[in-house]
Amino acid sequence: MNEKQRLESAQINPADQKSEKDYGQYFQAVYQPPSLKDAKKRGKEDISIHRDFHIPEEMNGFGEGKKFLIRTYGCQMNEHDTEIMAGILIEMGYEATNQTEDADIVLLNTCAIRENAENKVFGEIGHLKPLKLKNPNLLIGICGCMSQEESVVNRILQKHSFIDMVFGTHNIHRLPQIVKEAMFSKEMVVEVWSKEGDVIENLPRSRKGSIKAWVNIMYGCDKFCTYCIVPYTRGKERSRQPEDIIQEVRHLAANGYQEVTLLGQNVNAFGKDFTDKKYGLGDLMDELRKIDIPRIRFTTSHPRDFDDHLIDVLSKGGNLMEHIHLPVQSGSTEVLKLMARKYTREHYVELVKKMKEKIPNASFTTDIIVGFPNETDEQFEETMSLYREVEYDTAYTFIYSPREGTPAANMEDNIPMEVKKERLQRLNALVNEIAAKKNLEYQGQVVEVLVEGESKKNPDILAGYTSKNKVVNFRGPKSAIGKIVKVKITQAKTWSLDGEMIEEAVEVI
Ligand code: SAH
Ligand code: SF4
Ligand code: F3S
Repeated sequence: MNEKQRLESAQINPADQKSEKDYGQYFQAVYQPPSLKDAKKRGKEDISIHRDFHIPEEMNGFGEGKKFLIRTYGCQMNEHDTEIMAGILIEMGYEATNQTEDADIVLLNTCAIRENAENKVFGEIGHLKPLKLKNPNLLIGICGCMSQEESVVNRILQKHSFIDMVFGTHNIHRLPQIVKEAMFSKEMVVEVWSKEGDVIENLPRSRKGSIKAWVNIMYGCDKFCTYCIVPYTRGKERSRQPEDIIQEVRHLAANGYQEVTLLGQNVNAFGKDFTDKKYGLGDLMDELRKIDIPRIRFTTSHPRDFDDHLIDVLSKGGNLMEHIHLPVQSGSTEVLKLMARKYTREHYVELVKKMKEKIPNASFTTDIIVGFPNETDEQFEETMSLYREVEYDTAYTFIYSPREGTPAANMEDNIPMEVKKERLQRLNALVNEIAAKKNLEYQGQVVEVLVEGESKKNPDILAGYTSKNKVVNFRGPKSAIGKIVKVKITQAKTWSLDGEMIEEAVEVI
């Protein structure tokens, strides 16, 4: 149904006190369909920074006595957006719950990266329907990356009309208005902006923990890798101002946080959009390392934007963690070209070599896609050989999934599923083999562990992470939670390390 048909078929409730002429305006406000075509055109307009976020007066206390639940899918970016939406709802008076039955608002913060991610969400939408039938006052919303996709919004409009609101990644600051519209509207409220030039500051946040925190430093992606939906769902690259980031990190440090992870889809493109200054991730890290916070990380970096200045700053160590997540995607230069990754195997290997030389102890993790259109056995073998050459600590491995609207979706998806699965299996076996081998090197060593809490399996055991993001389990007092302690590794497993906490100061690797 297009907008015109929708307007024509819209049931106008006479109790709704709007005059005839208001309706056009009303629906325009509530029904703004997403458009991939618009998203593909990168606007040249300046980035506007908004610092005037506030909950509209009439929405204050709106959530008093009511509860919300947000289910999050996808990457850290989405996890952090969930913290912001939770912050907004809490400011409106709502309270968090983890029981769907208790919730007055359920939001699904979705991910569009692969087909199976989307299928999970459609499955969950199906589960929510009986709940809505039982409790018609329940408000159900779909947000996150899937709502930026035209086909998804159309499918929801046609097949899941019990959904109350659909809003995009550029609209989360509009949550109070969207909730209000949804509450008073008989129609599904759809507000998805393809407009993407904005940075919204001073949003409330309800952070999930009190030890580690995420800090957005930039939004969007301009890389347009041929397989990837993110540049369409998250908009163009735009950076926050350094002062705003520094202030947020200082504030977190003052509140006892031990670790921050700087977030961006293409985090080392930070600053490329500044027109008034030359300032990049290296400069930012150089300022942040002076803040009294024990650990600083960043994710995800693109090999193409990893410049020498950033490497030099990272080599200063201190609170800058020596773990680098550097997605390679493929070990074959030809496949990389088809993916439009804008580097060759040789460039990538050279970059890693340079980092290993300059950053003592640097460890690497990566993302890999198998079964990209036309990937031959030989090209896949190049990925395997690259993996051995770099010796990654671990990798996230994926079977290629065509995404509507991306250039690769126009290529024939011509690798049979059995071949894709077989490649994935072989790659995963290699990932495990090298992970186990690298973990063995820790046996008998002493590492610094940021203790996050009790282990999921056994409350007598504490769990935390090393500077290289390795999980360590050990017996220790609860008072160690939230602190960095020294642990001697007694047993290395493939995915974790077991150890004993030691009191005295020993030399740490
Ligand atoms: N911005 C990051 C990560 C983006 S998404 C980067 O550039 O590296 C996380 C990972 O999902 C990607 O690194 C890629 O390995 C994988 N991915 C993205 N699109 C995919 C697709 N269409 N099919 C399979 N895997 C995909
Ligand atoms: Fe996607 Fe490539 Fe951007 Fe990463 S750099 S988000 S893979 S388009
Ligand atoms: Fe998924 Fe969107 Fe993140 S597509 S991986 S949630 S940016």
